Amino acid sequence: MDTAFSVQPVPGLSQLVADVQSRPQRDAHVIVFANEKGGVGKSTLAFHAAVALANAGAAVLAIDCDSRQRSLHMALENRRATKTCLGIALACPRSAVVDRAATAALFQEMGRLGTRCRFILIDAPGHDSPLARAAIAVADTLVTPVNPSFIDLAHLGRFNPATMALTATGPFGALVAGLQQERERQGIRPADWLLLKNRVRPHEARQQERVDQALAALASKLGARIGSGFAERVGYRELFAFGLTHPDLDRIPQLGAVKPREPQEVDRMLAELRLPPVGLPTPREQASRAWVQAQTRTAYLNALKDHVAPHGGLRARA
Ligand SMILES: Nc1ncnc2c1ncn2[C@@H]1O[C@H](COP(=O)(O)OP(=O)(O)OP(=O)(O)O)[C@@H](O)[C@H]1O
Ligand SMILES: [Mg+2]
Repeated sequence: MDTAFSVQPVPGLSQLVADVQSRPQRDAHVIVFANEKGGVGKSTLAFHAAVALANAGAAVLAIDCDSRQRSLHMALENRRATKTCLGIALACPRSAVVDRAATAALFQEMGRLGTRCRFILIDAPGHDSPLARAAIAVADTLVTPVNPSFIDLAHLGRFNPATMALTATGPFGALVAGLQQERERQGIRPADWLLLKNRVRPHEARQQERVDQALAALASKLGARIGSGFAERVGYRELFAFGLTHPDLDRIPQLGAVKPREPQEVDRMLAELRLPPVGLPTPREQASRAWVQAQTRTAYLNALKDHVAPHGGLRARA
């Protein structure tokens, strides 16, 4: 079976990794939710993770790279509106939308709003694009939700239907595996990659076994880990218009005691991600943060100087 498996080469990844590496380094831990299959729950999980990390006291920036749908950004705008309307203390992650399909635009938002953040969460669009690739290339942690169906899994890998042997990478599997290999080749630590089933329905136990088997094969060949995943629950979508998650309801005294309806799947995912601690940075991290801030300030000031140079001003005084 080993000899029959192949990773399709994806051109252009060496330049992409070198480009990302040449940008100002960031201090925050970057968690990217990506799968080029649409509708698998990237925005839903990114939103719940961003809110859970903010509720735990971390400074969080959430970047939405899907400028047409803006699901994550909208949810966080709704959250700020709820906070203002009800006058309650809701932890609100900062949020931004990247609306130019360029690596530079992504780094601009990370530099502009992310320098004092502990975590930057990026919601990638549900299709392949230069921006989606840049987001994956910048990940410290990569989360790929998959719906438990072989149509969805085909984006990661191709299986022989008779033997269930994994025969080749799918387009997304090849892209991420290629980026990981390229990072290693250029001396950069590959992203910690977690595959998560989402929208699991309990009555499909037999089919789940085949999906689990397929995921295990994918994880072992592609160098990913497998998380416990999420069940299909109305709870993950019903509070979207208010930008709330179920644990937030306890912070709204007017609602009285609310029975928790969402199990601890979000907390479990965060634990499985093995993230750096939410709390204050260590002295070593503080030193690195100061350096990152100085570097970002220089890049920002240089960009500003380029803008005002034609009119004299800053450049003349610099
Ligand atoms: N665990 C879940 N239980 C119930 N509904 C869910 C769950 N996860 C996601 N959904 C719903 O599935 C749909 C798709 O989710 P979402 O928009 O988060 O996917 P996406 O991967 O971001 O999609 P796209 O690729 O279009 O950006 C939404 O209606 C969302 O509310
Ligand atoms: Mg989305």
